[in-house]
Amino acid sequence: MSAEIIYGKQLAEELRQEMKEEVTELSKQGIHPKLVVVILGEDPASMSYVKGKQRASEKVGMDSELMELSEETPESELLTIINQLNNDETVHGILVQLPLPKQIDEQKVIEAIDPSKDVDGFHPSNAGRLMTGQETFYPCTPYGILVMLKRAHIDIEGKHVVIIGRSNLVGKPVGQLLLNEHATVTHCHSRTKNLREHTKRADILIVAAGKADLVTGEDISEGAVVIDVGVNRVDGKLTGDVDFESAKEKASHITPVPKGVGPMTITMLLHNTIKAAKWIHQ
Ligand code: GUN
Repeated sequence: MSAEIIYGKQLAEELRQEMKEEVTELSKQGIHPKLVVVILGEDPASMSYVKGKQRASEKVGMDSELMELSEETPESELLTIINQLNNDETVHGILVQLPLPKQIDEQKVIEAIDPSKDVDGFHPSNAGRLMTGQETFYPCTPYGILVMLKRAHIDIEGKHVVIIGRSNLVGKPVGQLLLNEHATVTHCHSRTKNLREHTKRADILIVAAGKADLVTGEDISEGAVVIDVGVNRVDGKLTGDVDFESAKEKASHITPVPKGVGPMTITMLLHNTIKAAKWIHQ
């Protein structure tokens, strides 16, 4: 069996078209969703992510601003800027690109962002709301995965979801989101023993470990759904955490890298910013 390939890129384009129409409607009511992205330093990978976020928001007709700060920016200065953005009524979404330089306490910055403008969904208040099953901003990559599964008509309720990775950005929140959808969730990570015993038992396997080719066809069961969140550069080529060629022969559905989960992350950021703008004007 060769798997059905779930192209996040295609779905992202459909969703962004719907969002463009929504932004046009909102602007008729005088609501102009605005995202401000803050980046410190010039790391090429971060810069490329951030430019992608800005381009995408402009494409759907949203207002967007990129604040490029020096790598040496003191923590106090960044906190002052966040405070100004919190108080600026024209700004609906604030995203500070991570990771941050070493002089800055990342958690302090995350907690400084007003939860009602936290379109990343990283603030402990929003993480807590997700955990308690309340409406909130869901972190963009996990939310993108959920939307992909739903649009591909993959049943989640009662299914065994195995996640490799336990980051605050992806592993933990995707587990929580799918638990809220009534999945049975297993979290694996770098200290998990006998990883294959777990991955073999997955109906849906989500790999967010940051290790190229960690999972191969041998690690999955016939008919499993495989979601690859990895973004690795090997010999200059972008590759995921899953060996696509061997896994696609056993999976029922699989996401590629690139053109899989990545484009959905930015799309859900746009979704969250529109949601923030609508909430404020309710
Ligand atoms: N760095 C890598 N991914 C992300 C993300 O989704 N949000 C932020 N703020 N930083 C990131």
